[in-house]
Amino acid sequence: MADTETDAGVDPAFRRDVLAGLEMRPRAIPARWFYDLRGSELFEEITELPEYYPTRIERSILDEQSAAIGDAIGGGQAVVEFGSGSSAKTPLLLNAISPAAYVPIDISGEFLRESADALSADFPDLPVHPVEADFTHPVPLPAAIADLPKLGFFPGSTIGNFTPPHAVDFLRAMKETLGTGAMLLIGMDRIKDEDVLVRAYDDAAGVTAAFNLNLLERIDRELDGDIPLDAFRHKAVWNDMLARIEMHIEAVRDVEFSVAGRDFAMAEGETIHTENSHKYGPRDARILLRAGGWTVTREWTDEAGQFALLLAEARPEVTAP
Ligand code: TRP
Repeated sequence: MADTETDAGVDPAFRRDVLAGLEMRPRAIPARWFYDLRGSELFEEITELPEYYPTRIERSILDEQSAAIGDAIGGGQAVVEFGSGSSAKTPLLLNAISPAAYVPIDISGEFLRESADALSADFPDLPVHPVEADFTHPVPLPAAIADLPKLGFFPGSTIGNFTPPHAVDFLRAMKETLGTGAMLLIGMDRIKDEDVLVRAYDDAAGVTAAFNLNLLERIDRELDGDIPLDAFRHKAVWNDMLARIEMHIEAVRDVEFSVAGRDFAMAEGETIHTENSHKYGPRDARILLRAGGWTVTREWTDEAGQFALLLAEARPEVTAP
């Protein structure tokens, strides 16, 4: 796929989403725009922070329960990873099963190719077919894996970054991408103590803050903006009614700026909503997957039940029970 839009100037979809998002009330910009090369690097740093428990716990589940996971999944599948990023957890899964191919799908093309090459070096006999795509829509899979059984891999509790209606749409899109009969191994973060949750998204070293505010730098750079960075701060709050962490960029004073030739004004305390991270209790997780067309068959957690890995199956849809 072409890799020119990143260097060739303005990405029209970025421009459209940012201008619409700044005009909206409350203001909100879709989280997918976090992930330029710098954003993707900062995100990898987040996953190594002491306060950010999900990555560590999910890895430990994959590692410590690899025999049971391997038994439940078997082998011979094409592993299709949605939003593969650095593919950091992939070796743990690939070692637990005997995969026939690996298909990382990511929106950041540059990052995708680097990670695919690194993984190929560690698994020289495994065919790797990277796909640069927005994985929230059905993605045509490479012809080379057409006849293989499919295992979707969606770690990192990324499903929590969708609102429940969009999560259901996306789960259904994954079912369309992978086909009836496919399996899905998905990580979901659980509801827990509010302080633990908030700290995971507002770390002492300020990496999550830098990640959030990098969006403003990207807007200034790519959309000819003049947003003064010192007028904004990172904010993370737990919304209990919606069972989610919300990330915002908050104006710390009244501020005026322009983006792509349009003028905006924000009052002190006003925010741009940039990310949600929904958390799911055990029953919540199963019913969400069921609503998206996936039937949970197995589930693994850490001892304290802080994070869950669920294995689900795309069964044919029937109207009778
Ligand atoms: N899905 C993970 C989570 O919600 C990782 C993640 C996505 C994240 N976007 C983020 C973490 C923004 C911190 C900030 O926890």
